[in-house]
Amino acid sequence: MIKFLDLHKMNMRFDAQFKVEFQQFLDSGYYVLGEGTTTFETNYAKYCGTTHCIGVSTGLDALILIFKAYIQLGKLNKGDEVLVPANTYIASVLSIMEAGLKPVFVEPNKATFNWEAATIKKHISNKTKAILTVHLYGQLADSEAILNLAQDHNLLLIEDAAQAHGSENSFGKRAGNLSHAAAFSFYPTKNLGALGEAGAVTTNDGALAKVVTALRNYGSEKKYENVRIGVNNRIDEIQARFLNIKLQHLDADNDSRRAIAKQYLSNIKNDKITLPFYDGTNNHNFHLFVVIVENRKVFIDYLHKNGIQASIHYPKPPHKQKALQEFSTLQLPITEYIHKNCVSLPINPVLTHEERDKIIKIVNAYL
Ligand SMILES: Cc1ncc(COP(=O)(O)O)c(C=O)c1O
Repeated sequence: MIKFLDLHKMNMRFDAQFKVEFQQFLDSGYYVLGEGTTTFETNYAKYCGTTHCIGVSTGLDALILIFKAYIQLGKLNKGDEVLVPANTYIASVLSIMEAGLKPVFVEPNKATFNWEAATIKKHISNKTKAILTVHLYGQLADSEAILNLAQDHNLLLIEDAAQAHGSENSFGKRAGNLSHAAAFSFYPTKNLGALGEAGAVTTNDGALAKVVTALRNYGSEKKYENVRIGVNNRIDEIQARFLNIKLQHLDADNDSRRAIAKQYLSNIKNDKITLPFYDGTNNHNFHLFVVIVENRKVFIDYLHKNGIQASIHYPKPPHKQKALQEFSTLQLPITEYIHKNCVSLPINPVLTHEERDKIIKIVNAYL
């Protein structure tokens, strides 16, 4: 069976380095916010091109901390509206709600799966105070136009870059550096994935970085001096150390994902399968390769019978989740269509050439 994502195989590539790192970690005697964290924060800020990176516990916490910090800085107020793509993972929406803000859902473009500036613009009201843009599946969402829109309307722009490590725009600027503040997830399945939970906030806003740094650590700027009502959302030291090792391979991994995507895009030819939009540049890291197939259950069962494990991202849109019942009557047909028909094919740097060829052959033979 070709696994959708073989995390063991992915991480075994770094087996020896991880073991050396763990020994150093153990020997250091510093297990929380130690040297590994500081080094990772410096390296990841440099990678993204931002002045600050703050390591935190998860991607969801990174988003929540950004919103809470802007509230503490007086740039947002409870009840303010935040525009968010309807076609996203629920974490984007939960972060807005957890901070006491109001999500306003905006439909995506059916071909790119991401939203566009022109559609976002139609939803701006005098209650709108921020835009949470999501680079879904790793593809940057219309980044320059959305930044211009935010600037024109004096809105905060926040990136949910949880899936977009290393994706860069036409000026070579990377995800995490295309907004006022960005959130990353290092959940194990991500292109830069830890061996457990981890996340980060990146920003060029020194004041925001200071508040987020305090909030993640009980609201303290100095040990046992609490200046804000904070939480414990610190990044795990050992995860930061593992991430430092994997960061060195991120660009190569993203290149190999793009190479597989190009191979799929030129060789998958089947009327029943709609392939994803890709402009051929580095604005996509192919965290996921998502195709549209009607009657997807039949397709997924067919793949499975032929030794290929597929996945779905995601089966049900946020506004149709029981937890978000208050939004269930919204009319979001494009989002619903995508969620109903999307199928993720395996794409990752440890997929062998034989496996890629087999996936193409089996997908092409689907009737
Ligand atoms: C788009 C998006 N936003 C936010 C998150 C939240 O990240 P985490 O799982 O690290 O909390 C994820 C992770 O799955 C995600 O895909």
